[in-house]
Amino acid sequence: MRGIVLLGAPGAGKGTISQCVLANSNLTHLSTGDILRHGVKTGSKFGRAAEGYMKQGQLVPDDIILELVESELDDVSRDTTFLFDGFPRTPPQVKGLDAAMDHHGGSVTHVFYLDTPREILISRLSGRRLCKQCGAGYHLTNIPPKKPGICDACGGQLYQRPDDSEETIIKRLDVYKAQTESLIAIYDLRGLLLRINSNQDPGKAANEILTMMAS
Ligand code: AP5
Repeated sequence: MRGIVLLGAPGAGKGTISQCVLANSNLTHLSTGDILRHGVKTGSKFGRAAEGYMKQGQLVPDDIILELVESELDDVSRDTTFLFDGFPRTPPQVKGLDAAMDHHGGSVTHVFYLDTPREILISRLSGRRLCKQCGAGYHLTNIPPKKPGICDACGGQLYQRPDDSEETIIKRLDVYKAQTESLIAIYDLRGLLLRINSNQDPGKAANEILTMMAS
């Protein structure tokens, strides 16, 4: 088992770039944010535990996240390569991921840090819209749908994530700075960190990632 980590602030483009990477590789996507949002919708154990934290823009406690990730790693083939999106997010989650990979005979081999200026993060998050039906992502000005409010792919209605309100965006960026930013130095010291300019076409950023993974 192998782990590739996409590290970056809220709005850095982790989800968008993941989709471009996945379209051109056979990696297995693991987004803790997506799993938790699905859990909130369906009322799963993890969703119920996480909902309050997510609404406030706080991180979900490490023990819940690590239990969730461990359950996702169980029963997958040993030659799976995971693309972790939004995980790990704290030093204890880094340790938890190391232990989980070790347990499955693998390790984290690359950490791609999506470097994005704060003003761009705010504009991306406040303009983000998602399809209620198929989950496709848009941005009011950067990636607008052909018809306002309607998904190009399936005709579903577009909505704004509840944690993309102005107040919660600022909270999430502060939480990132306080609790997640230190992971850049942790992975840099291990020689695993690779910087990607995420202020470019997402397809180009994904190609850089795929090229670096292959070399
Ligand atoms: P999560 O879903 O992981 O949210 P996040 O980290 O805040 O990241 P986002 O999904 O908001 O941004 P993104 O980087 O994926 O950007 P995107 O590609 O969408 O987590 C949500 C919550 O769950 C957390 O707050 C926390 O409560 C909880 N949680 C999740 N994981 C956790 C963990 N490990 N530990 C504890 N709690 C956890 O892009 C944003 C917008 O920009 C889009 O509109 C897109 O179209 C646009 N865009 C993207 N790239 C580009 C580009 N290159 N050019 C132009 N526009 C672009």
